[in-house]
Amino acid sequence: MKKLVAGNWKMNGSLAANAALLDALRVHLTKPVACDVALCVPAPYLAQVQALVQGSGMVLGAQDVSAYESGAYTGEFSAAMLQDFGVRYAIVGHSERRQFHQETDALVAIKAQRALAAGITPIVCVGETLAEREAGLTFEVVKRQLAAVVHLNGHCISEIVLAYEPVWAIGTGKTASPQEAQAVHLVLRQQLQAASERADRVRIVYGGSMNAANAASLLAEHDIDGGLIGGASLKAPDFLAIVQAAQ
Ligand code: PGA
Repeated sequence: MKKLVAGNWKMNGSLAANAALLDALRVHLTKPVACDVALCVPAPYLAQVQALVQGSGMVLGAQDVSAYESGAYTGEFSAAMLQDFGVRYAIVGHSERRQFHQETDALVAIKAQRALAAGITPIVCVGETLAEREAGLTFEVVKRQLAAVVHLNGHCISEIVLAYEPVWAIGTGKTASPQEAQAVHLVLRQQLQAASERADRVRIVYGGSMNAANAASLLAEHDIDGGLIGGASLKAPDFLAIVQAAQ
């Protein structure tokens, strides 16, 4: 299966910084590359980055999408609006949105549904906190988070990308070991298999302090089909090294 490397810029960037980063990436990612590469950028920069990825081996992604279709929802942006900018992927249920914006499993499932209906691939994030891991609840938590998405989107669940992002590994420099991550990916794979005959085509990517040094060993695991990259996606050499490791 073709791996996916998705950069999650989070709330970083500026017109000037984005242009410089894209200049550096385009030099190496002009031709179709042997893995899929997406850049999930802040919404105000979608138009800028849409233009800059034209003709490159990279596609555009967003970091969220509204659970509503349209109307009086100040500050929100819809799946149809993302479609207008050629967005191919939308992260939903990132732990920072679950934590700082009180997003529930049910809301995340609706967001995934909105993206799918617009032909945008949702990158559905699941992951346990440190307290949950230490309490031995890792599998229970990620299965509950995925179950809500499967419940609402069962018929097209094979169209999603799933991201396992242990919360304790995000932005901390602490990475799950390849074996720890693989164990969770396998549990998630089995849950998808129970829901869909086409579960084997779902890419389950890992996120949480993935970097140039650890990417190859994580990506070598059987059920790790790519990465969701935060901090390292803002530095061209680091992001390119991860893309290289995924090919
Ligand atoms: P990180 O972030 O690579 O900076 O840990 C990953 C993410 O939150 O998607």
